[in-house]
Amino acid sequence: MRLQVRQNLLYSFLFYRADMTTSSQSAEQPTANQTSGMWGGRFTEATDAFVAEFTASVQFDQRFYKQDIAGSIAHATMLAKVGVLTDAERDDIIQGLSEIKAEIEAGRFEWRIDLEDVHMNIESRLTQRIGITGKKLHTGRSRNDQVATDIRLYLRDEIDDILSILQRLQKGLLGLAASHTHTIMPGFTHLQTAQPVTFGHHLLAWFEMFVRDTERLQDCRKRVNRMPLGSAALAGTTYPIDRAYTAQLLGFEAVSENSLDAVSDRDFAIEFNAAAALIMMHLSRMSEELILWTSAQFKFVNIPDRFCTGSSIMPQKKNPDVPELIRGKSGRVFGDLISLLTLMKGQPLAYNKDNQEDKEPLFDAIDTVRGSLMAFADMVPALVPNIEIMREAALRGFSTATDLADYLVKKGVAFRDAHEIVGKAVALGVQEDKDLSELSLEQLQQFSDLIGADVFDNALTLEASVNARDHIGGTSPKQVEAAIARAHDRLAQLYA
Ligand code: ARG
Repeated sequence: MRLQVRQNLLYSFLFYRADMTTSSQSAEQPTANQTSGMWGGRFTEATDAFVAEFTASVQFDQRFYKQDIAGSIAHATMLAKVGVLTDAERDDIIQGLSEIKAEIEAGRFEWRIDLEDVHMNIESRLTQRIGITGKKLHTGRSRNDQVATDIRLYLRDEIDDILSILQRLQKGLLGLAASHTHTIMPGFTHLQTAQPVTFGHHLLAWFEMFVRDTERLQDCRKRVNRMPLGSAALAGTTYPIDRAYTAQLLGFEAVSENSLDAVSDRDFAIEFNAAAALIMMHLSRMSEELILWTSAQFKFVNIPDRFCTGSSIMPQKKNPDVPELIRGKSGRVFGDLISLLTLMKGQPLAYNKDNQEDKEPLFDAIDTVRGSLMAFADMVPALVPNIEIMREAALRGFSTATDLADYLVKKGVAFRDAHEIVGKAVALGVQEDKDLSELSLEQLQQFSDLIGADVFDNALTLEASVNARDHIGGTSPKQVEAAIARAHDRLAQLYA
């Protein structure tokens, strides 16, 4: 179905561009204004054809036809409950709208640019199908509260979809981490070897980012899930509407408190986009690591061929396209956020046409974050770490230097002095091209006679180093195992 809508969008976009090129002629010869039935009563000339196209949104807002129809059905149901419509009128409207939905889904609906947006396209078709009763649907509402309601319903569905993909990705990370609680790799700061860490611990760092992303989306969803319908154009309506009832029908948690605010603010979309931007930022960081790790210089990880592409000239190439593309796509979502913030900042109350521009950045952010998460959710469980190469790398770069300093501190040396001593030992290692664990006991003892034979087992091996970081949040295999167990519980709670 999504594909269908995309295709429609594509066709209407092509159609739109084609027509725009004829704008100069059409400015001289305005065509008949098809929308006059909707709002043209006071107009004495037809809308300029170019202006009609330029101001239309149906090319992109047809995407939420389902939510528009659901909103209209709930509105009609409420109008009948309070006696503004008869039960028969309500039933005709519901029947007509259901048939229109089927038409759209079968690709048989003719979207008309001259009918401006998804709302008027559907309403006009309803009247065509059921006659005068169709014209009663808009009683007590405006496109201003209608569109605000539709976007919220649409975004709510999309958030739920995105959350389910996030959950799949998080489970994938936990699965991979569980297989690598004992796999040791170098941990980096400044992209220089810092201290050994377990690969499982590194994956759990990614997992934590997505926990916060989940919380942000869930929190944002609460504010998305408030119903503007009933605010009408800006001030409310004179009909005895039952907003709580409509909200209940549509699954909204609450109704908006102020009509002026409800029809105009798009902060909920901005909030979502901010959360989406953070998700993309996290995915981009992960991407950057995967790109480094799959390079011939690191060789830490292998991404299966199905996620990569080759080069048309260099036969040896296998490029990490998916992470690269996602790193690139993060920029789009950041841009969408800036677009929405800028869109909103200059608007006086209440609704302004500017708000029609909220949709494309929002849709772009939704599509990009959804697609990027999907790619990662598929790819993460398929990653194959190169355990030996990671271990080799951890043995280079004096990753256990801090452990030697801690060893001396435990023997009574002040940390700053221990730091100095180990620095000298490292200098010798650099000179001899040897890791600290490869220096002899005698060589080490020339820097401190407190260094004993136990230093190799207790400080200088990779296992000793990671095992020693044995507290909540630390990298020891034991702690990582415990963290994974807790993470499963947290996931269950998060997505309960
Ligand atoms: N297509 C419009 C939008 O997306 C619907 C609301 C139009 N309201 C109006 N007063 N012109 O914002």
